[in-house]
Parts: sequence; C-alpha cells; structure tokens
Amino acid sequence: MQCLNSTLCRARRQKNRFDQRLSGEVNLLSVSAARKVAKLAKEKIIVALDVDSVESAEGLVRSLRDEVGAFKVGLELFNSAGTDIFRRLKDAGAERIFYDAKFHDIPNTVAGAVRAAIKNGIWMLNLHASGGAEMMKAAAKAAKESAAEANLDPPKLIGVTVLTSIDERALSVELGVTDPMNCQVVRLARLAQDCGLDGVVASPKETALLHLACGNEFLIVTPGVRPAAAAVDDQKRVMTPAEAVKVGADYIVVGRPITKAQDPAEAARAIAAEIT
Ligand code: C5P
Repeated sequence: MQCLNSTLCRARRQKNRFDQRLSGEVNLLSVSAARKVAKLAKEKIIVALDVDSVESAEGLVRSLRDEVGAFKVGLELFNSAGTDIFRRLKDAGAERIFYDAKFHDIPNTVAGAVRAAIKNGIWMLNLHASGGAEMMKAAAKAAKESAAEANLDPPKLIGVTVLTSIDERALSVELGVTDPMNCQVVRLARLAQDCGLDGVVASPKETALLHLACGNEFLIVTPGVRPAAAAVDDQKRVMTPAEAVKVGADYIVVGRPITKAQDPAEAARAIAAEIT
C-alpha cells in the first residue's frame, strides 16, 4: 500500500509539472490551430447516431445530411442493425461514415476485420492503440491494401488511447500503469502515429497536448463537446464546440445535443455557426 501511495504521489507531482508547462504552451498552439478553423465548420461535425433502430438512424441522416460532415455508427447501432446499416445510411444520404468499432485483438484478426469493414465504404474507423504496434501496423497495411484493391480511398484510421471512463486511479491501481494519464495518452498517440494511423480520439482536455506531441497534421477527433446552453448529460469533462476547435480538434463528435434536440438540423446549424 505504501508503495502504491508513493507511486500515486509521484504520478501526481509529474502531472502537475506537465500541466504547468502545457498551460504556457497552449497560447502558442491556438495560433496554429486557428489555421484549421478555415475548414468548413459543418464538415467538422460528426453526429453520433446512438439509436437502436435503423429507421431512427435513417431519419436523423435525412434531416442532417446537409448540415454536418459525417455520421458515427457505434456498437449499439451496429449490433442492432448489422453491417447492412452502412448501406442503409448511405442510401439515406450519409456520404461519410465513422465506424466506431474500437477494434482490439491479435494483429491478424484486426487486419481481417479492417479488410471486411472497408468493403462497406467506411470513411473513418478506430482501434485501440493499446493493442500494440504490431496490431496497428497490420491494420494500417490492411486498410491501404484493401482500399486499393477495391479502388476506394483508404479510411482514416484513428487510435483510441485511454478511454475517458478510466481515471488516474484506475490507470494506476487497476491497469498498473505508473505514469500519469497525460504521459500514457501521449505515449499511445505517438505509437499510433509511428504505426501509420491518421489520428486519435481525444477528450477536449487532451487535444492541445496531443497537437504539441504529434503535430498539426495528426487528426484529433473529440467527443465530450457541449454547446454552452446544452445539458452536460453524463459527460464529465466538456468543452464548447468553439473551445474544442480553438485548441485544435479537427472533428467534434456530438450526439445528444443534436439528436435529442427538438429540431436536430437547427441544433447542428447553431453548432456550425459557433465554430465558424
Ligand atoms: O451524446 P454525446 O454527445 O455525449 O455522445 C458522444 C459520443 O461520443 C457517444 O457516441 C460516445 O460513445 C462517444 N465517445 C465519448 N467519449 C469518448 C469516446 C467516445 O463520448 N471518450
């Protein structure tokens, strides 16, 4: 127990030093991040289709296809609807689909899953960076090869570093990682970049740090975004869409503030206006 306490204290001290350095560097960062704001604001919005029926998802796509850049299919919708969901959403007008698959398995299995997913015309796909370098390299190779065979653009491969549901205590006590959270997130993001992935999913609070660590070309996909007037729901650490983009988010993932709004299209337009 003594050992664990001193490890946690050391981790906290390291994190405080890291945070102090970071806060001085974020101002510099917002200058380079501003360049990215030029991208069409609505293209940055990915709507999370966290619904359990194909019909609800199709309805949302029809009302939002001209207002946002992409739609995210997560495990709930995928397991309710099966792979046919991708064709159905495309037919409803979804040009870009982010399959939030969070693959994590041995390299051969993940490579096979990536090959199969690509046949569905996926624009973006994610996998756990903690699956290791060999797994990520196999996924990147499979993505390039099978996209070329099918004459498609390869999907953007995005790594998941540390889930935002894991806190410092769980990271240290349950998972046995002795480095502070920020160090672990940066380590996995750099590993993902070295293995040929295109970016990472990051909480709004990690976005600036990751741009410093991995450069401006490495994509940052940021959930946990809430317009100022919207309910926070179960999200713990939120930023507004404008703040998230200012610190360098390339894409923001927004679910309930749009999908549960009385007028989803109007809610999406308001978010796009906020980040323009
Ligand atoms: O409704 P809300 O805007 O909170 O939805 C956020 C979406 O982003 C959900 O689909 C959720 O699963 C996903 N997500 C998240 N936090 C992460 C990774 C993904 O909220 N760290």
